[in-house]
Amino acid sequence: MLVNLLPLALSALSLASAASISIEPRDNAAPVAGPYGLGNAQCQPVKLRVPIDAKNQKFTDVVQQYSNTSYATAQMTEFATAQANYTSAHLKGDTVQNKKTYSIQGYYCTPRRGAKEGSALINLVHGIGFDASYWDFTLSPEYSFVKHAASHGYSTFRYDRLGTGKSQTPSNGFDETQAPTEVAILAEVLRQLRDTTNVGGKKHPKVVGVGHSYGSVQTQAITATRPELLDAAILTGYTNNVTNLPGYLNAASYSVAADVLPHLASKPRTWLASGSEASDVRGFFYPPYYSEQAFKLARSTEQAVTLGSLFTIGLVGGPAPNFNKPVQVVNGAKDFIFCSSNCWGGPDGTDIPSGVKQFYPAASKFSSFIAENVGHGITAHYAQPMIAEKIIEFISQNGL
Ligand SMILES: *[C@@H]1O[C@H](CO)[C@@H](O)[C@H](O)[C@H]1NC(C)=O
Ligand SMILES: *[C@@H]1O[C@H](CO)[C@@H](O)[C@H](O)[C@H]1NC(C)=O
Ligand SMILES: *[C@@H]1O[C@H](CO)[C@@H](O)[C@H](O)[C@H]1NC(C)=O
Repeated sequence: MLVNLLPLALSALSLASAASISIEPRDNAAPVAGPYGLGNAQCQPVKLRVPIDAKNQKFTDVVQQYSNTSYATAQMTEFATAQANYTSAHLKGDTVQNKKTYSIQGYYCTPRRGAKEGSALINLVHGIGFDASYWDFTLSPEYSFVKHAASHGYSTFRYDRLGTGKSQTPSNGFDETQAPTEVAILAEVLRQLRDTTNVGGKKHPKVVGVGHSYGSVQTQAITATRPELLDAAILTGYTNNVTNLPGYLNAASYSVAADVLPHLASKPRTWLASGSEASDVRGFFYPPYYSEQAFKLARSTEQAVTLGSLFTIGLVGGPAPNFNKPVQVVNGAKDFIFCSSNCWGGPDGTDIPSGVKQFYPAASKFSSFIAENVGHGITAHYAQPMIAEKIIEFISQNGL
């Protein structure tokens, strides 16, 4: 079978056009937030037991427990250069059932006051290179999506994806941590949020899914396969344009994480991180529209990824003909990974993110927002506070 890489702030906002906003560095700015302010989030850690039974791909003729950067680089070069060849050599269509119970670390945050009556819980799934703190970026309160949400009376749940933060880390590099496994984890987390009292001691009958990057790929996959689990989907750092995914793999210079990042010294050697500060900047940042402290924070808390995760992104997601709820797509105009650094540069004068609409013929609403002067790692950029507010506005306007 062929595996495609993917069907793979703050004031001084000046409205450049209906969909584009430019932002001045936050230093000259007053915070933008909801009526209850950025100190309104009250958070508690929640450890979840997450049983899954996922249909993973069986990689053949690979070293499952690779342990050096040369081997990982050779694999990525082969994949990025000729994906169809890589697939016919190593992904012959055999599957392996991954039946496991994982320990997943989550964080549940509720508003101290002003909880919005009947509102949806916002479930946040981060992407590659981060853990759940992507959504509560600790640089300062206005960078935290979680705090913005609580300032409007919304509760949030976020979790560390498999192999990041305080969640479990499998050591196998190919056959275990894969996109199908992670989508199964997300589906089971959403089921527990809805049908059990494991999180916050109560059921959450309405859940809005918000993703970033790989987290958006997974959230999008849920809308395609389990549409009943979400009441709206917000896909950030995401398009359905796969053109630059090989470029991303090359630019990232993924290296054994334990060798390049001291805080990941104890990760199994199958886990990789961007090879240098420059490769991190290239993939995730748009200079100079973030502070040096924001970059240092992201780099000093960067999280790792396996080859199995990277090479199976395209196995999940795609058309979601039965998803009849609101969908918002949010990108930085300079997203390198999903837009080749120009989200406005689609075919025939279109923008690239609008292409996601083709997955959603039945969506009750589809909207795309492109923020100027922002790269792929949105949360670390000066525009983050404005973007957080945009997302919450979309949720609120749709009655959720
Ligand atoms: C790297 O790992 C591969 C696969 O295990 C091994 O064959 C190779 O000898 C190693 N190369 C180096 C330079 O250590
Ligand atoms: C991919 O496979 C085709 C057909 O076997 C071959 O002609 C081509 O040279 C291969 N490409 C690379 C980059 O190895
Ligand atoms: C996909 O992105 C490339 C740039 O990476 C662009 O040239 C192309 O037009 C885009 N295609 C679509 C359908 O968006």
